[in-house]
Amino acid sequence: MKFDTPATTNPIDRLTIVGKPTDRIDGPLKTTGRAPYAYERHDVAPDAVYGYVVGATIAKGRIRAIDTHAARAAPGVLAVVTADNAGRLGKGKHNTARLLGGPQIEHYHQAIALVVAETFEQARAAAALVRVDYERAHGRYDLARGRDAAVEPKSDPDTGAGDFDAAYAAAAVRLDATYTTPDQSHAMMEPHASIAAWNGDRLTLWTSNQMIHWSKRDMAMTLGIAEDKVRLDSPYIGGGFGGKLFLRADALLAALGARAVRRPVKVALQRPLIFNNTTHRPATIQRLRIGCRQDGTIEAIAHESWSGDLPGGSPEVATQQSRWLYAGAHRKAALRLATLDLPEGNAMRAPGEAPGMLALEVAMDEMAEKLGIDPVQFRVLNDTQVDPEQPERPFSQRRLVECLRTGAERFGWQRRAARPAQVREGRWWIGLGMAAAYRNNLVMTSGARVRLDRRGIVTVETDMTDIGTGSYTIIAQTAAEMMGVPLDRVVVRLGDSNFPVSAGSGGQWGANSATAGVYAACTKLREAVARRLDLDPTAATFEDGIVRAGDRRIALTEAAQDAELAAEDHIEFGDLAERYRQATFGAHFVEVGVDAWTAEIRVRRMLAVCAAGRILNPKSARSQVIGAMTMGVGAALMEELAIDRRLGFFVNHDLAGYEVPVHADIPHQEVVFLDETDPISSPMKAKGVGELGICGVGAALANAIHNAVGVRVRDYPITLDKLIAQMPRIGK
Ligand code: MOS
Repeated sequence: MKFDTPATTNPIDRLTIVGKPTDRIDGPLKTTGRAPYAYERHDVAPDAVYGYVVGATIAKGRIRAIDTHAARAAPGVLAVVTADNAGRLGKGKHNTARLLGGPQIEHYHQAIALVVAETFEQARAAAALVRVDYERAHGRYDLARGRDAAVEPKSDPDTGAGDFDAAYAAAAVRLDATYTTPDQSHAMMEPHASIAAWNGDRLTLWTSNQMIHWSKRDMAMTLGIAEDKVRLDSPYIGGGFGGKLFLRADALLAALGARAVRRPVKVALQRPLIFNNTTHRPATIQRLRIGCRQDGTIEAIAHESWSGDLPGGSPEVATQQSRWLYAGAHRKAALRLATLDLPEGNAMRAPGEAPGMLALEVAMDEMAEKLGIDPVQFRVLNDTQVDPEQPERPFSQRRLVECLRTGAERFGWQRRAARPAQVREGRWWIGLGMAAAYRNNLVMTSGARVRLDRRGIVTVETDMTDIGTGSYTIIAQTAAEMMGVPLDRVVVRLGDSNFPVSAGSGGQWGANSATAGVYAACTKLREAVARRLDLDPTAATFEDGIVRAGDRRIALTEAAQDAELAAEDHIEFGDLAERYRQATFGAHFVEVGVDAWTAEIRVRRMLAVCAAGRILNPKSARSQVIGAMTMGVGAALMEELAIDRRLGFFVNHDLAGYEVPVHADIPHQEVVFLDETDPISSPMKAKGVGELGICGVGAALANAIHNAVGVRVRDYPITLDKLIAQMPRIGK
């Protein structure tokens, strides 16, 4: 099905199941521990042996010699796989060549060996016996120092409109501020894990991966085998946040290990290895310049961002939202990419906007303060309904102003003291802060197969993944709505590369695109049912297990009495995404307390108002947003990979040293969804929320801290040491 004209009325609009707050259909399996994650699939390979990954202990250079004799001779060891004996490896589309290093070392903890043994403990003990002689080379580990040599990336050239420099110079009120955000790690609960088994020349991988078809292709390209010889199966995933978008070392090394020992091999990346071995969100240095008229109208806005990556890498697109969030005739956005020899930078939840909003939305707060205009009002004043770089291109739907106003009212924003450091409650300075939320809405081709059996069970199969987001449930809701059956008549099977290729879980496109693919397949199945029942397919309606056309009513189960009916289709998106700018919008409001004596920061209340098209399942969507808000608190206050700038690695590479919020850090959170549909986005009229929720929340927190104590920290995370010297003086 091609989607290239705005959606009109369709069966989803009935909203008898879609749009209702619905418990996860996979919930009981998960809460009772019966949903098997990759490393726990004892059933598929009961004779599996264990792989333990050895990571490089230099960041750049080469291996002079690697001695595996002692490891090979250790009890239980079956093989030691290294670049010397792994055979020739090709290159997938996503940097898979780096997944097994040697002799060249490109980053710290790059995998250089896999020790395979009968038990995990034997593999781990033997891994400690691998001796490596390195020749260390000079590396670049400091973004601030690499900044001058940074270049304009080919992938993301400078953009703009009008004449920024002249308009900025002439502006009545100007702001020029620089913000920095640190390297961050996905830190998902489930480590990257895979079980690999060969059957002749066929490879099966039970793994944990967001994008099944990307990784199937990359595995085939890396091993130099045909794509149809590779199968991936990833039905349950314990979080990804972008860290499992691509094939990682666990999968490749499990495949190589299994080939070497001719038995299934299971590999989980050890937690202390994950932070340097896999990808991370790159640090940024961001300069914002805003020039306004005295009345608060933005005349000129420029956002420049510097980030680094390994040679051949890509920038963190932190300027993205600044191109589209606010009006202003004169503007520019520029990215500069430095070459660094730290581990690979790549996508982490809302790549681009998440760090970009941390800068833009504090700059907006600073500008509002300079102008003496309320921060909500300042944003309302500068709303735009068209792409400011290309005014002929409207937004498909944009209700930012309504999000801001709804949030201000529900949060009690009018109680905020405009001047900072005015409100004390005992030892706590109290502050309120807000920020807009913005995240692009991407759409992706997505396919599904749907079957109807004689009992009336509808089975959906697609390689779509559920990374903890609720894909199973919204797909079941979609199929139930389309086929007119209750939710418990639908079976959803996900994550298997034998199923039709889907959009996968990434960039918050999964919910809208994958359900649209199911919509397309169900549309075909409805036609097949109608034909089988001799009904007019264009007139048939499906409700309560009954197919109706004209004055005829036939039970749906009749259609499959003699033989199961099946249909497969995919949704393909035309040029609506070019004709309209598509995005999701919101507003974040935060109340903090800052301890007057210690500068300890406590979050007291949070509210997010989101406008993200039709909300397919308000329960799982809310859960996505509160999770993202929590992650935003981490970004503002805690998360930071500390770099050893001499040796070139992330020092705090485990969950003890890399801090994320815990329950005790997070107060009551409220989420409001505006009631809307976006007919430009897909037949589902939905968008994504999983990334929108993190965009802006950290800035709202930073702005609340400023409102509480009058201190602007422009260097994230905002830890108390950065506040304490500037705290307001207090009497006894
Ligand atoms: Mo997302 S960072 O594309 O999983």
